Amino acid sequence: MGTENGVRSYNIAVISGDGTGPEVIQEGIKVLNEAGLRFNFKLNFKEYDFGGERYLKTHEILLDSDLEELKKYDTIYLGAIGHPDVAPGVLEKGILLKTRFALDQYINLRPVKLYPGVETPLKDKGPDDIDFVVVRENTEGLYTGCGGFLKKGTSGEVAIQESVNTRFGVERCIRFAFEYTKKRNKAKKLTLCGKTNVLTYAFNLWERAFNEVAKEYPDITTDYAHVDATCMWMVKNPEWFDVIVTDNMFGDIITDLGAMIQGGMGIAAGGNINPEGVSMFEPIGGSAPKYTGKNIINPLAAISAGAMMLEYLGEEKAALKIEQAVMYVTANKLKSLSAGKMGYSTSEVGQMVAEFVAKDKIC
Ligand code: IPM
Ligand code: MN
Repeated sequence: MGTENGVRSYNIAVISGDGTGPEVIQEGIKVLNEAGLRFNFKLNFKEYDFGGERYLKTHEILLDSDLEELKKYDTIYLGAIGHPDVAPGVLEKGILLKTRFALDQYINLRPVKLYPGVETPLKDKGPDDIDFVVVRENTEGLYTGCGGFLKKGTSGEVAIQESVNTRFGVERCIRFAFEYTKKRNKAKKLTLCGKTNVLTYAFNLWERAFNEVAKEYPDITTDYAHVDATCMWMVKNPEWFDVIVTDNMFGDIITDLGAMIQGGMGIAAGGNINPEGVSMFEPIGGSAPKYTGKNIINPLAAISAGAMMLEYLGEEKAALKIEQAVMYVTANKLKSLSAGKMGYSTSEVGQMVAEFVAKDKIC
């Protein structure tokens, strides 16, 4: 953060990425700039072309020097990674996971909130029932790449993929979750989601760390649920959750379920957070190649990721205004959140949110 002519200013690296990423990020930037005008701050965006097209042309994915450059920004705003002409995993690992790990973005924060007017597949559940946040550990577990093959390609082949859980990594994630639950100030309930009955090493460590840190937060109610039961309760009684903390793999899985109960990938946003470093905010859906360039994809997830980014930068009023705008649009304008069924184009939805952010109404 800096100041330019007495106005707060922030430098933001933009990785629009692949597929529909650029379309949704364009709308996000439109809305963020409008918020800056209203709330008196300036955003300096710098675009980077990391993604499938650059890889196909240059065979470069994300260099160490690129990471050094990204470290100079206040935050990173990411669209989507994944290209149909590039083998699955190359870009996801080479850009998304590499950045999460290299910038030590050890928290993946994913709110699951049903906005007014949005249809959920859960029968008899509404916005009062679906409002919780998943704190996913983002740098360890099954994602570290530890493991290997033995006798690869033979009938005796062995593949091992190990889950790495360090006391340091687990505890810092759990501490973040307790602090977050305290600040969120809703039900003040934190649920550890694990699998202590089977993963008796990994989640034993998680459970001990959780119970020890819990002693420092007497005002927070703690709870535990196995990951399979968590999926069940998310569908049956989502109102039981306030904040859930879990490991990388379980967090990945339950937040796709979370996205579905809050209305789909069109609305789900997340932040890859390093509280002491550079964080990265993104819509959690993929690059949706089949909708690319059609101006029909829903930009609200990218816009909401932008709001999370502003909140993280300390521009809380602006973040709240964007959330109000998104809620106004879902409640009063959109027919559906799905691509091609919104009743408006991608850019029209972005325009409506931007107008509300500017004037609290849509003309
Ligand atoms: C996510 C994605 C990524 C993950 C993939 C693309 C590597 O599914 O952000 O949830 O598994 O973390
Ligand atoms: Mn995922």
